[in-house]
Amino acid sequence: MSRVKNICCIGAGYVGGPTMAVIAAKCPHIKVTIVDLNEARIAAWNNENLDNLPVYEPGLADVVAQARGRNLFFSTEVDKAIDEAEMIFISVNTPTKTYGLGKGKAADLKYIELCARQIAAVAKTDKIVVEKSTLPVRTAEAVRSILDNTGNGVKFQILSNPEFLAEGTAVEDLLSPDRVLIGGETTEGGKEAMEALAEVYANWIPKERILTTNVWSSELSKLTANAFLAQRVSSINAISELCERTEADVNEVARAIGMDSRIGPKFLKASVGFGGSCFQKDILNLVYIAKSYGLDEVADYWEQVCIMNDHQKRRFAANIVKTLYNTVSGKKIAFLGWAFKKDTNDTRESAAIYVADDLLFEQANIAVFDPKVEEPQVYSDLNYLNTRSKEENAKGVSVYNDPYAALEGAHAIAVLTEWDEFKEYDWQRIYDNMKKPAFVFDGRNLLDGDKLKEIGFVFQAIGK
Ligand code: NAD
Ligand code: UGA
Repeated sequence: MSRVKNICCIGAGYVGGPTMAVIAAKCPHIKVTIVDLNEARIAAWNNENLDNLPVYEPGLADVVAQARGRNLFFSTEVDKAIDEAEMIFISVNTPTKTYGLGKGKAADLKYIELCARQIAAVAKTDKIVVEKSTLPVRTAEAVRSILDNTGNGVKFQILSNPEFLAEGTAVEDLLSPDRVLIGGETTEGGKEAMEALAEVYANWIPKERILTTNVWSSELSKLTANAFLAQRVSSINAISELCERTEADVNEVARAIGMDSRIGPKFLKASVGFGGSCFQKDILNLVYIAKSYGLDEVADYWEQVCIMNDHQKRRFAANIVKTLYNTVSGKKIAFLGWAFKKDTNDTRESAAIYVADDLLFEQANIAVFDPKVEEPQVYSDLNYLNTRSKEENAKGVSVYNDPYAALEGAHAIAVLTEWDEFKEYDWQRIYDNMKKPAFVFDGRNLLDGDKLKEIGFVFQAIGK
């Protein structure tokens, strides 16, 4: 008999939505309600047309279709869902602070605190509160303090259960994770809560992959995992610059080192720079935490991963300008891809935004095509940078629904996202309709450079 019959998840974003949809699909005996303050987002999750879900992930629509209306519900009634649930996941955003102490580095925990206060105010029965958001180590302490001091005397157990899914493969990652991590207190109550959560996952995940630790190890493991993954990307990107000077080929180097079983082949793809909502945010957070303990060398070591990543984005844009005879003013530069990686509609911290920003300073005309990103998102990303007026961004950038129209008449193409469909395009037709010499700058090592050179393109790729 399952201990948990009712789950509530606060936050219907890229993590809350897919994670809870999979739990609901795999646990038909548990009612799962996902709540969010954002009414438009909840309406989109409830959209009859499954092509219009707010999050694009391969396979997600099928999972939602399986459980929605059966035991999976999307709602804006936060209090009701909290009241009904025995277990509450907090899956709200934890962006980098943009103000005050720790500005630009520390995680902004205001949304977490609001959730904790709301849970405390509403709960009339004992609850297990699960931190699903990525949080600084020792956040559970603050959550406990709020719950215990503002609650109605009911008992709370706080667990850390960080999420390791990657966007673009979220459903696959959730169905078959390398591990599930649960951190809890070593008290009797803590152990029981961990068991209750482990029981939920055990409905589809082998027990040996469900790992339990103390709360602090669990919180810190999440930041550490992202820091290690991002570090690999920055490491290979650092080598990519050296390859470009020495005629070594970064793909060959990555293959050669990746076959060493101690190193392994994953996360060795050189690129225009890592993006996404988490790598930079989580590393900066780690840097901030280390600094706050006076560990300057530790902080500097990890900060270098982000410094290298900024450099990689900037030098990609600078190389375009240099190669196009030191000026892109008035030239059409077409972007293939705007999302931070393939198979997602998420653009947060995408390298494309920063490359576009640099090229706009050089007065380029940018034409964007991305199979899953629409015009308002592109402008909103650029406007968010606040580096020029909205009118100037609108004037400098056009967004297309048809890739061939975006590429027509361009002086150069920059590949910013590794969408598979780009490989299948009619590159002869594209060449015929471009200004000559026709340049391609492949920021993803995606295209077949030899084939493009044969057509007549001037082709450059990262690390070659
Ligand atoms: P998101 O911005 O897509 O979603 C967060 C949602 O929470 C938003 O829809 C927002 O409206 C809602 N929200 C905020 N405060 C609320 C409140 N008080 N009540 C109700 N709803 C509220 O963010 P995300 O990408 O899903 O990330 C969530 C957390 O998961 C972050 O801590 C992130 O670091 C972590 N994480 C993200 C990923 C990823 O791939 N995106 C992977 C692992 C972990
Ligand atoms: C990453 C982690 O992989 C997840 O485990 C983690 O849960 C998540 O962050 C999170 O905490 O949010 P995500 O950012 O969705 O997932 O995507 P990744 O596949 O890690 O890619 C991040 C960035 O690195 C992308 O821009 C990608 O193109 C780039 N990357 C990745 C490379 O440039 N080279 C590589 O070899 C791998």
